[in-house]
Amino acid sequence: MDGFEYRGGELYAEEVPVAAIAEAAGTPAYVYSAAAIRSAFGRLQRAFAPLRAILHYAVKASANLHLLRLIRGLGAGMDVVSGGELERAWLAGTPMAQIVFAGVGKTDAEIRAALDGRFSPLAAEAERLCGRRTEGRGPVGMFNVESRSELERLAAIAAELGVRARACIRVNPDVDAHTHEYTTTGMDVNKFGIDAALVQGLFDAFAGRPPLELAGLHVHIGSPVREVEPYVAAVRVLLGLIEELEAAGHRISALDLGGGWPVEYETGEAPPIEAYAGALVPLLTDRVADGLEVTLEPGRSIVADAGLLVTRVHHVKHGRRKRFVVCDAGMHTLIRPALYRAFHFVWPVRIDPRHLPPLRAARLDLPDLVPCDVVGPVCESADFLARDRGLPEVARGDLLAVFSAGAYGMSMTSNYNDHPRPAEVLIDGAEALEINRRQPPAALLETELEPRALELSRQPKKR
Ligand code: LLP
Repeated sequence: MDGFEYRGGELYAEEVPVAAIAEAAGTPAYVYSAAAIRSAFGRLQRAFAPLRAILHYAVKASANLHLLRLIRGLGAGMDVVSGGELERAWLAGTPMAQIVFAGVGKTDAEIRAALDGRFSPLAAEAERLCGRRTEGRGPVGMFNVESRSELERLAAIAAELGVRARACIRVNPDVDAHTHEYTTTGMDVNKFGIDAALVQGLFDAFAGRPPLELAGLHVHIGSPVREVEPYVAAVRVLLGLIEELEAAGHRISALDLGGGWPVEYETGEAPPIEAYAGALVPLLTDRVADGLEVTLEPGRSIVADAGLLVTRVHHVKHGRRKRFVVCDAGMHTLIRPALYRAFHFVWPVRIDPRHLPPLRAARLDLPDLVPCDVVGPVCESADFLARDRGLPEVARGDLLAVFSAGAYGMSMTSNYNDHPRPAEVLIDGAEALEINRRQPPAALLETELEPRALELSRQPKKR
């Protein structure tokens, strides 16, 4: 259930015609279905219920405050990877204890803000923004730590502030997730995590050094992971490690399996979430019965199918070999095709009933489709949304929908070529709420308007 369907040749987001949303909010715009988010979240929750898994939504997938509030309302905690995401998660009402702070490059300032609200970059403004103060909000529930250096900084800052810091070690299990090389994170050539062979040394050195509490292990092997087997392999590595750590006298109470659960950008491209749960639950049941707390960090699987990007065709042009449909969305609005050659199903918002798509695929067996590239306005040949697709005939002014764009769509937009970021609209039944306005052109200029001379010290400090 992804919240979008054709009725009588017209694409609807729940009860609202997508064309009406495009008219009211302008294009390009991201449109999300609240029902689809609820349904995806519930499905994930049910699949992993035998493990009593705690779900922390990966904010990076789509970070709009209103989406966070919606997902928070379903009972999720939040997985954040920067000080900015941390503040969003907190502003959206997530108690700090239900926030996990991950990420390979945490700064001292970010660690401080995560431990003690007095150091939040929003300390002065929080009351105006949300009616609450950051002071006294407590430390995050967990840090997922990626290096010895980071662990040392965390221990030192926690001691300096006198605040308890709970941490998991992110393990690099050296498992190939068979996904795009840019989104593979669990192999020994990747910057993420700590070599499994070094983990016990860290526990020996840091466990039992209050106020640091080394609670357990974390792993995230990539995203999207379209096979079950790599998860099984990674979990086996972690279970082996837990046994070794316990034999050495350490207690492991938390296991975070990360995210990466796939969606069907193309019909049939990945197993359903239940297949992943079916393979993982038996591996962990005994441990959970003994008190191990299992956490997941799903991002894509909650929001990808719940979002589409609506864009308007500005020109159709015929090259010698190709027909180009030039629209107002492009790599600045959705970078996944350019960056990972990712597939997104693209289809007109208004169609002749003979063009009702039976599934999402690059080639459909329908009458009168014309091959085209769907491209954007940006001055790069990587600026495409779809290549060599058969589409119904489209003309200037038509609207196109780019499906399954709810994850890593808006959150990876840029201002390249000085285009403003798109609007975001949340549909819930018959209600349409603009949850983010299109960036006003002046916002792109604001930080440049008044240059200031920097005060340069003669002898810059050594760190
Ligand atoms: N946990 C950690 C530690 C992660 O690094 C990620 C994603 C997640 C959880 C959430 O993964 P998800 O459930 O959303 O697959 N920009 C790429 C995806 C990058 C994912 C980065 N990390 C894309 O558009 O496909």
